[in-house]
Amino acid sequence: MIYILEKIVVRGGVRLSGEVTVSGAKNAAVAIIPAAILVDGECIIENVPDIRDVQVIVEILEHLGAKVEFVDRHTLKIDSSKVDKQTAPYEMVRKMRASYYLLGALLGRFKKADVALPGGCNFGLRPIDQHLKGFSALGSENTVESGIVRVSAEKLEGASIYLDVVSVGATINIMLVATLAHGTTIIENVAKEPHIVDVANFLNSMGANIKGAGTDVIKINGVERLKGGFYSIIPDQIEAGTFMVAAAATGGDVLVKNVIPKHMESVSAKLEEIGAEVIEYDDSIRVIGNGNLKKVNIKTLPYPGFPTDMQPQIVTLLSICKGTSIVTEGVWESRFQYVGELLRLGANIRVDSQTATVNGVEKLKGAPVTATDLRGGAGMVIAGLIAEGETEISDIKHIDRGYEKMEEKFRQLGADIRRVTCPE
Ligand code: EPU
Repeated sequence: MIYILEKIVVRGGVRLSGEVTVSGAKNAAVAIIPAAILVDGECIIENVPDIRDVQVIVEILEHLGAKVEFVDRHTLKIDSSKVDKQTAPYEMVRKMRASYYLLGALLGRFKKADVALPGGCNFGLRPIDQHLKGFSALGSENTVESGIVRVSAEKLEGASIYLDVVSVGATINIMLVATLAHGTTIIENVAKEPHIVDVANFLNSMGANIKGAGTDVIKINGVERLKGGFYSIIPDQIEAGTFMVAAAATGGDVLVKNVIPKHMESVSAKLEEIGAEVIEYDDSIRVIGNGNLKKVNIKTLPYPGFPTDMQPQIVTLLSICKGTSIVTEGVWESRFQYVGELLRLGANIRVDSQTATVNGVEKLKGAPVTATDLRGGAGMVIAGLIAEGETEISDIKHIDRGYEKMEEKFRQLGADIRRVTCPE
């Protein structure tokens, strides 16, 4: 597919107001779609976000032999009965991190897989040793050679696995393999993110026997087969948080619809501490920014802690809050690449290893910037919304990987934002 070079141009200064509807969760979708490889029959998945990462994983499934059909823009029908390849080449998987779920899904169904090491956002080292440790415990032999991970097993037997690091990817990947393995698997020290629960719910609704997702220990009793069925993906916690932060940052008044307020607790709590008003309803959250915002300290942590995927957005907001905020990255080795771009807009931030010291300034001023990664790009859009004058964001392919029609949704809230095609 040819990628047309595009930019997002934002003219700042508008207070966002109105309603916006959140799409399905990216990080659930990119796991549930490959998980459909385990299903013996047709599954229909609803509330699929219309984003680039979904297009890429769908292309890979089709390459493997699955029949995938978009029933409508947000509904996928997947039939994996004709999957006849267990190899995912580098040209395809390099585009997204979550391609590592192909390892778990293919190993679970065919007892073998060859998948190139994945791409995705660059936050320093992104090892998959915990995934491989789990696969080995279940009976797989693993090798990594010339950038390709090869896994194969004569038979898959349930086992007890303790994760040394709380990892979203390893938790889901081991769950995928254990679903059809013989016997019982217990995974301890697992991640508890909402999308882990969503993947477990998807598998259970197809006939798996998984208990404990959302707690520290997951128990999986292997089943013979998964049958087809319907499933609807949860709303995207990070997209919701991005609109919530943007509302507070612009002194706006926004109702963010199609959210699960429980998933937003850490973000809501910090926004209130900053000085915004947050009102929760059953499946929506209203955020009102009164313009009188003050510093907070934040450390990103696995769920239910403050999400690392909201770190660039909240740092952007803190860059115009009164006082000095300390933001510590507790998940990734290096996730402050975007800060250099914020400095171009006049922010006053110092980064020392895992910590950013954010000295609030009166205002940001528009300038050309780059989306360094997906959430860094979201931070740039929020920066553009609050900056005086025009901000031009390039490399927006990162944003398109994970946000559905972001600029259209902001435009609905009154923002002066547009996508332009570059002449080149
Ligand atoms: N880690 C290991 N060994 C492993 C796996 C992870 O040491 O085998 C370490 C990582 O280096 C990192 C920490 O454990 O320091 C957590 O990594 P995790 O495995 O949880 O991350 P991931 O599964 O690769 C997912 C999301 C990321 C999100 C993280 C943390 C997907 C596709 N990606 O990544 O989302 O930042 O969990 O919540 O689900 C994003 O959406 O912008 C994004 C980057």
